[in-house]
Amino acid sequence: MTNVNETRLNELVGCVLGDIGGAVSVPLVRIGDALGLYRKLKEIGPVKADELADASGCAPRYVREWLAAQAASGYVHHEQGLFSLTPEQALVFAEPNSPVNLIGGFDTAAAMVENQPKVQSAFKTGRGVAWGDQAGCMFCAVARLFRPGYVNALVQDWLPALDGVVDKLKAGATVADVGCGHGLSTILMAHAFPNSRFIGYDFDADSIAAATAHARADGLTNVCFEIGRAQDFDGRDFDLITCFDCLHDMGDPKAAAAHIRKALNEGGTWMVVEPMAADTLEENINPVGRLYYSASTMICVPTSLAQETGLALGAQAGEKRLTEVIQSGGFKHVRLTAKTPLNMVLEAT
Ligand SMILES: C[S@@+](CC[C@H](N)C(=O)[O-])C[C@H]1O[C@@H](n2cnc3c(N)ncnc32)[C@H](O)[C@@H]1O
Repeated sequence: MTNVNETRLNELVGCVLGDIGGAVSVPLVRIGDALGLYRKLKEIGPVKADELADASGCAPRYVREWLAAQAASGYVHHEQGLFSLTPEQALVFAEPNSPVNLIGGFDTAAAMVENQPKVQSAFKTGRGVAWGDQAGCMFCAVARLFRPGYVNALVQDWLPALDGVVDKLKAGATVADVGCGHGLSTILMAHAFPNSRFIGYDFDADSIAAATAHARADGLTNVCFEIGRAQDFDGRDFDLITCFDCLHDMGDPKAAAAHIRKALNEGGTWMVVEPMAADTLEENINPVGRLYYSASTMICVPTSLAQETGLALGAQAGEKRLTEVIQSGGFKHVRLTAKTPLNMVLEAT
């Protein structure tokens, strides 16, 4: 081999081996979540493997091997034959409302693997893969990935950072959540502001059915969901329109921006929540950029290309490009109002 730098090669191999370890952990983490192993371990640990198996109704030989893999991954703590979750491990794997619960990331990774044949063919044709034709439960995986961020920031930080919006919501406003998916964001807002009325639009019928079922299960009467496209949904005269992690998925986000402008009333606000990104590839070479560029290749770009226009902004469009798209719809002012490790929030008026 010529020009091979041994040190750099060893670093790369070490790094890729670590990545493969993460990739093969996807089914194990999802089994641990689905069978309640993390939650049970949090509750009863430190315990021996057989005790966890017994308490969770699982076969001891499988649980022993699973725990060994988890300990080797650093996802479970092991000491003198006893297994437990540290407080930090519990926040990531066993507490659904923790801001750093990352189980949804593993669900999304599984859905991306399932998407491979369709997206691989699309690389050759340049066509899209429609949102509804993607992996088994792409919708559930994505909803779960974003859930911790919404639960911990939407009502507490993102809405208050908008100019005058919380006062309107408290008094009683009309709100549309466009591209609402399973409606988690809509439902969180509906719970927090009982005097306001919320409508969630999404062009995916299955997502609307799931969102409706969630709202019903919560007993909410100030929220409903309708099938509708961002570029031509029916409603008018909204005080606030929100878009959560979906503008870049749209085929024609400029047409959506123009339609949303018309659907707002005088003084109305558009809140655009998008994946966190800087404006250049160089600045996005980091773990979050890696996650989002990968998801964008397998989910977001195919979703956009499957629609009219197919602008395919990508999940790492960044503030500058997003601002151009938003302003093309007739919005005069665009302001970055909040940032989390995974999301940025723009206010458009
Ligand atoms: C990544 S998901 C986000 C869903 C939800 N807002 C959330 O944060 O969990 C993107 C959503 O955009 C919807 N979508 C994409 N293009 C759309 C369009 N043109 N009109 C309406 N919804 C659209 C998809 O159906 C999907 O539910």
